[in-house]
Amino acid sequence: MTTTAPSRSVVQFETSSERSWWATEMEAIRAALVDHYGADVAGEALTPPRDPTGLRTRLREVAPQLTVLTDRVRRAFNEDQVCAVLIPELGLGGLEIDDKRKGVFALAVLLGDPTANIPFDNVLWDVRNRGEGSSGHTSFSENDREAQYHTDNGSLPVPEHFFLLYSVLAARCGGGVSLLRDGRVLKKQLEETPEGSAAVQLLTETKLPRRIPRAFRPYSDVSPDGYLYAPVLSDEPMWRWRQGGIRRGIAAHPECGTPEIRKALDTLIELLEHGADEIRLVIPTDGLLIINNHIALHGRTAFTDPQRHLLRLRFHEAPAGQTG
Ligand SMILES: [Fe+2]
Repeated sequence: MTTTAPSRSVVQFETSSERSWWATEMEAIRAALVDHYGADVAGEALTPPRDPTGLRTRLREVAPQLTVLTDRVRRAFNEDQVCAVLIPELGLGGLEIDDKRKGVFALAVLLGDPTANIPFDNVLWDVRNRGEGSSGHTSFSENDREAQYHTDNGSLPVPEHFFLLYSVLAARCGGGVSLLRDGRVLKKQLEETPEGSAAVQLLTETKLPRRIPRAFRPYSDVSPDGYLYAPVLSDEPMWRWRQGGIRRGIAAHPECGTPEIRKALDTLIELLEHGADEIRLVIPTDGLLIINNHIALHGRTAFTDPQRHLLRLRFHEAPAGQTG
């Protein structure tokens, strides 16, 4: 059984009256970035701001309409406690790709502190099927296959609280559908059955080994053999989930794969694959989806359209008191 957005876990903004902000604010955003980086840096090469608070303050001054939108996004997460926000038409559709990147980057800085794509320095990541041209450092974001449910950067001590996906061009093949599960709903569903309750308890109490790619090890609390031991369920983040990494961890450390743990994992995977309240949505061309990576699990259906192109950007929450 599936539901489609909007639901109480996802809020959808209509931005028809605000779409024109770029016409008046894009030039000032470009100038703010030139000042901050000391040169005109291409959008695809932008690194994390050296002073995110300073840049945020400047952007709040020079991009008031964009600030209104990002304040609205923040309220949806903080006050309405949604796990994702969909803006179906951001208004960047007619701009050059470099301005799209800079606009999305500025929007993210207004919401928080962007991070680099390990092991690279740049913040924005092009999500598209690269075929043979893959960097080899990621999986789901460089191919066209199905992406199973996961949370992003679970190998970091504290994964980014949020990430966003901006659709430069949505798939025209019927695939590339974004899948979301509200982790709070998922936990409640588990707690409705004895097996599920046992799974919640075990997956909270047990630190499971996860194989961590070499590039991530300098950033993570990994054991010498390259495994991170962390529970699936905790507080910050609520969910830390990547089925493949956990499967590989247990294969290498079979003592961790007790029958009880295997049953708990199977119970969770069954619910992820077949449970109710799955949210399915296509991010339309020029649409933006912002996801709370500490609460929501996300995935994607396979696609064949070679032109499908998203921009991804991850960010930590801005420190308290730095936003309106
Ligand atoms: Fe992801």
